[in-house]
Amino acid sequence: MQKLESTSILNHVYDTQKFRKTGHELIDTLANYLEDVTTNKDQPVIPYTNPEEELEYWKQDFASNSDISDVFKNIINRSIHVHHPRNMGHQVAVPAPISALTGLISDLLSNGTGVYEMGIASNAIEKIITDFVSKKIGFTSNASGFLTSGGTLANLTALLASRKTKAPNDVWNNGTNEKLAILVSEEAHYCIDRAARIMGLGDEGIIKVPVNEYYKIDIKELEHSFSLAQSKGLHVIAVIGCACSTATGSYDNLKELANFATKHDIWFHVDGAHGAAVVFSNQYKHLINGIEHADSVAIDFHKMLMTPALNTALLFKNADDAYSTFAQKAQYLWESQNTREWYNSGKRTFECTKFMMSIKVYSILKTYGTEVFEENVDHLYKMARVFAKMLEDRTDFELFMTPEANIVNFRYIQSENGDLNTLNSNIRKRLLESGKFYIVQTTINDNLYLRTTLMNPLTTEQDLLELLEEINIIALTSH
Ligand SMILES: Cc1ncc(COP(=O)(O)O)c(C=O)c1O
Repeated sequence: MQKLESTSILNHVYDTQKFRKTGHELIDTLANYLEDVTTNKDQPVIPYTNPEEELEYWKQDFASNSDISDVFKNIINRSIHVHHPRNMGHQVAVPAPISALTGLISDLLSNGTGVYEMGIASNAIEKIITDFVSKKIGFTSNASGFLTSGGTLANLTALLASRKTKAPNDVWNNGTNEKLAILVSEEAHYCIDRAARIMGLGDEGIIKVPVNEYYKIDIKELEHSFSLAQSKGLHVIAVIGCACSTATGSYDNLKELANFATKHDIWFHVDGAHGAAVVFSNQYKHLINGIEHADSVAIDFHKMLMTPALNTALLFKNADDAYSTFAQKAQYLWESQNTREWYNSGKRTFECTKFMMSIKVYSILKTYGTEVFEENVDHLYKMARVFAKMLEDRTDFELFMTPEANIVNFRYIQSENGDLNTLNSNIRKRLLESGKFYIVQTTINDNLYLRTTLMNPLTTEQDLLELLEEINIIALTSH
């Protein structure tokens, strides 16, 4: 029989000595980077370049003979530095290095995890992690969950489950002519709107309920929206609670939403992608009182729980609901098509192949104990309150509202011509270009606010003070 020889290139690809050497070098590079970026605040948080320039840089690199170690360094240097204490922009976790290391295991082993045999350890660990979170939520042993690739996908999956359970006919198998609808606060993350559109609900089926003065769903308006939907012949299948909302970090009253859902026999989903992490905090878990009555809850580990993206838990109060969402046959994957075993997680997830997400969370909990999440959430929320107080005490800034979460919106208000939107937009642009701080912006009621999410436990009060000083300098030199 003819022996198949691998080519010399393929021998290089799997050369373990090369892997060892490059790997050691990369860990050294990353450790030096971490040391530098967390202590040397004078270097930019973000090395901002315009997209066309950046594309040109990488086109040239692709065509050159650059060494892979240099490529690694260039990728790092040309990226935003989330570990930098002056990174306060989006709701992205500042990954615990141990979790990033575990990510290397996930990438090298590439255990697809949707099928037990392709994720033996990772499926078992996934059950431990999701049972742990379920218990924190207050679900009973009837609950069950899994990990999936992000809050967006988790919310879509939960809404598909709501359709399976609450729609008048079996849409999954038979399609429908029925006009289905969901109720959600007008402040909800755009992925809820996207999920509903994917499900074919259209404009009419996504009912955006007005919020009250605290940017929480208005319960009276909710009843009104429900009645109006019924009078139009819509069949409402679900109400979604924001815990918390993205723009302002407001927590909907989950107890009231739970009562509303029970009264009307509809599904209650909690989008806790960002803020349900308070389930780990004794000090702040009151913000999600009532979450234990939800039919499903999404929580991102890659937001306040120090895990690299993407890593989301979707928990169902009633395990059967999770198994019926994607009831399909796949002879090549599962021996038994109709059974509901926890260890073939792909029966319940949108993904077939998925990362070994569970091990990234497990490594944090095993290394630092279960209190680590509580400490992180408590610290970030406290910092937001310190920052809000700092803003309230100044006459040159306006705090948008007292934060419930770690999201603080504010604006600079000393303007000669009164055009605060242009002034604050310019401030944010100048900050981005200088790279000294990374903050973002949002528009609420036609007013543009500077938006910070305090995600980094290494950010200090001094950093926040210096942010305001920097804004002051920019504003004074903008006139
Ligand atoms: C409240 C809320 N839900 C959902 C999402 C989307 O989550 P992901 O980015 O994990 O898909 C976000 C993202 O910021 C969010 O803030």
